[in-house]
Amino acid sequence: MKPIQMVDLKTQYQKIKPEIDKAVIDVLESSAYINGKPVHEFCANLAQYLSVKHVIPCANGTDALQIAMMALGLEPGDEVITPSFTYIATTEVVALLRLKPVFVEVDAKTFCMDAEALRKAITTKTKAIVPVHLYGQAANMEEIMTVAGEHNIAVIEDNAQAIGCDYTFSDGAKKKTGTIGTIGTTSFFPSKNLGGYGDGGAIFTNDDALAKKMTMIANHGQSKKYYHDIVGCNSRLDTLQAAILNIKLKELDNYIAARRQAADFYDAAFASDAKITTPVRAHYSNHVFHQYTMLVEGVDRDALVAHLASKNIPSMIYYPVPGHKQQMFASSGIGEYNLAITDWLTERVISLPIHTELEETQLIYITDSVLEFIK
Ligand SMILES: Cc1ncc(COP(=O)(O)O)c(C=O)c1O
Repeated sequence: MKPIQMVDLKTQYQKIKPEIDKAVIDVLESSAYINGKPVHEFCANLAQYLSVKHVIPCANGTDALQIAMMALGLEPGDEVITPSFTYIATTEVVALLRLKPVFVEVDAKTFCMDAEALRKAITTKTKAIVPVHLYGQAANMEEIMTVAGEHNIAVIEDNAQAIGCDYTFSDGAKKKTGTIGTIGTTSFFPSKNLGGYGDGGAIFTNDDALAKKMTMIANHGQSKKYYHDIVGCNSRLDTLQAAILNIKLKELDNYIAARRQAADFYDAAFASDAKITTPVRAHYSNHVFHQYTMLVEGVDRDALVAHLASKNIPSMIYYPVPGHKQQMFASSGIGEYNLAITDWLTERVISLPIHTELEETQLIYITDSVLEFIK
């Protein structure tokens, strides 16, 4: 059996090596390392895949969120509502821009923003809502968009973990996550479902004016070379990364299918164990399984992690400290929070290896090892 990893990027690369190697050499020989042709080709292909009007490349998923918030023209002190149960990047940029993060509860089953909690958190200062499609499944966007629409508030979807995920509206219409709100953002961090071989990110929107502004912000606020109209930053997707991502985009649906197959195996193996709650699949979303995150109840989770590690099985806790308890926000005036569901989930989640290259022997070994400990 091959060693088990959380993500096996090497085997994945070997399967597409000739195409990737050629694309990399082509970039090297073109010497157009910044803003080369592959950047434009990749953005056009991704826009087509997502059915969205504009894809704006940038340096990583954190910058994508920051550029989106800068483009909305938010003022210091404006409130931005986000879940506390997410990766720190979602909320960090809020504080970085001197905005006020307002943390809301997630749904205990889907781990994503609870629309009722969102409704209660809205004040006259709320200027943006940032739902996160955590672990690869969509937040309840129809309800979130309804609440946002009632108050005319912009929605930025943090789609770093869910690229390729389909959301189904109650009338049966489908949209890709990241294209439903005012703006969508994503990350091409190597372990992501669509990952490069370094950092990368992108922003999506159907709004022409916002697209223009975000393109400027990502490029030092310039509309014309050396004419800087607004304050921006330097956030670019390398040509090399774009060339690699262009090849991997063609594989994205296959990658998602492989992840789903591994998740189905886990689901079936754990189905009858009362101490394990496998990921709930919401009726309005398919699941692209960026993570396979389950809940364990009545189990010493640290001991389970140690047991798996002793058998050379990695596992992760995403995330051990929720946003409202992070020291970095202590000076942001966020106040006291009582987020019982978030705290409850934080103590129970555990993520098992999931990627495109998992073999059945590995899955059997992982599930047997989990059940051996739990039973
Ligand atoms: C939910 C979420 N948002 C944002 C990011 C930030 O992406 P990046 O690491 O590319 O800056 C990540 C990446 O891990 C993420 O998982």
